[in-house]
Amino acid sequence: MSNPLFSRKPMSVLMEESGSSHGLKRTLGKFNLIALGVGAIIGAGIFVLTGQAAAVYAGPAVTLSFIVSALACAFAGLCYAEFASMIPIAGSAYTYAYATMGRGVAWVIGWALILEYLFAGSTVAVGWSGYVVSFLDKNLGIALPPELVAATGTRLIQTPDGWEAYSPELASSLQIKGILVDSLPQVTTWMNLPAMLIVFLVTILLVRGIKESATFNNIVVAIKLTVILLFVAFGWGYINADNWVPFIPDNTGSFGDFGISGIFRASAVIFFAYIGFDAVSTAAQEAKNPQKDMPWGILGSLFVCTIVYILVALVMTGIANYTELNTAAPIAVAIDKAGEGLRWLSPLIKIGAIAGLTSVILVMLMGQTRIFYSMANDGLFFKSFSNIHSKFGTPITSTIITGSVAMIASGLLPIGVLGELVSIGTLLAFILVCVGVLLLRYKEPNLVRPFKTPLFPVVPILGIVCCTGVMAFLNPLTFVIALGWLAIGAVIYFLYGRFHARY
Ligand code: ALA
Repeated sequence: MSNPLFSRKPMSVLMEESGSSHGLKRTLGKFNLIALGVGAIIGAGIFVLTGQAAAVYAGPAVTLSFIVSALACAFAGLCYAEFASMIPIAGSAYTYAYATMGRGVAWVIGWALILEYLFAGSTVAVGWSGYVVSFLDKNLGIALPPELVAATGTRLIQTPDGWEAYSPELASSLQIKGILVDSLPQVTTWMNLPAMLIVFLVTILLVRGIKESATFNNIVVAIKLTVILLFVAFGWGYINADNWVPFIPDNTGSFGDFGISGIFRASAVIFFAYIGFDAVSTAAQEAKNPQKDMPWGILGSLFVCTIVYILVALVMTGIANYTELNTAAPIAVAIDKAGEGLRWLSPLIKIGAIAGLTSVILVMLMGQTRIFYSMANDGLFFKSFSNIHSKFGTPITSTIITGSVAMIASGLLPIGVLGELVSIGTLLAFILVCVGVLLLRYKEPNLVRPFKTPLFPVVPILGIVCCTGVMAFLNPLTFVIALGWLAIGAVIYFLYGRFHARY
């Protein structure tokens, strides 16, 4: 008997499942698909992590880090597009892998994707909290208790600009102004309550079922892009070029802290900012011409975001000195630095960020419930995760468990740790997709591939190399947690999935 780890889910079953469960109309063209991708991509990465990556690892050269990550994503994106176009139904890398490479690879990808989507919801919720707290405090004059606005055990310092997380960079930037950190009020936080609240609310929405609507998505994308472009357009005039000197701050002596290694370290952190373009593939069934339009959607949204990110990074580090950007709402901090002239933009940016981040939390948590649902439906995960609520028609168990775990994680963990977990899960899935595309071209040369990555086999090989390279710069602790995660998954597979798998 052949090894069950290589058994594949028949294409006919996939087609049947997708046909019977949806029957969606094909209405999305290139533009809508790109908008869908941009909607899922732009989130906490640019609104929060950019500032931290600049402050702690790369300085103004975080701009270059965005180019490094974009390259890794572009190679992986091309492979993803080939993969997705072979199976023009709604799904994720998990679904595609099951049909083409078999159960073993599908399972690893599925388990990695859980890390991606589940914790992405939490990460973005922490970003959301940062902007909400800043909006309430600076724009409405409502100060929440500092103990309740950041990850458990964070040391917050009350600086003249507000409460900020302690870091050596913050200490030295205060010292330059003649302020000693120890002379300022400090608290150690309990939990991030606003982040937990938004995950809770989104989960309720998901339990009751929401109608995904391209029009609604387009509006949110337009709001997000508008506030970001306003920041770039109006912020440009307030750039103080002195802040860009040195553009690549000298390495401090430790690997990854500024200098060239810092650029790569930052690219691993802000890789998170690009995650989400794969969401385009989940709309394959609604695409007018999936074979042609999906690569457009995936690569087009990646391209738009790369340009936007480079511009935002340049303006942000040009207005404020990079040492001041390690905050929960760095774009807002940069605007404040610009002074009176940009004051009007501050509430707009925050409201735009809050709306934009809410939609990303929704997309990520919904993606997660659907992955659990698919895995449970295939017998690789507990059957109850495929339960559908009789009244709401939503995957109730998987939604409630996803929401609860995401809520706890968002309340307890700092955004840096969460973001890295998401990145490692995504990078692992991308690497496997590239490997899959490479192997399948040799093993199954006759499969119909409406979209083929150009320059084969260079693109998949570069995808593997770049994604592995970016991954290598993640924090060692992230690897330990990810390995533990895979180990838990392996136990579940060998105790449960192995006996219940349907294909
Ligand atoms: N790319 C998404 C974000 O930055 C996940 O929030």
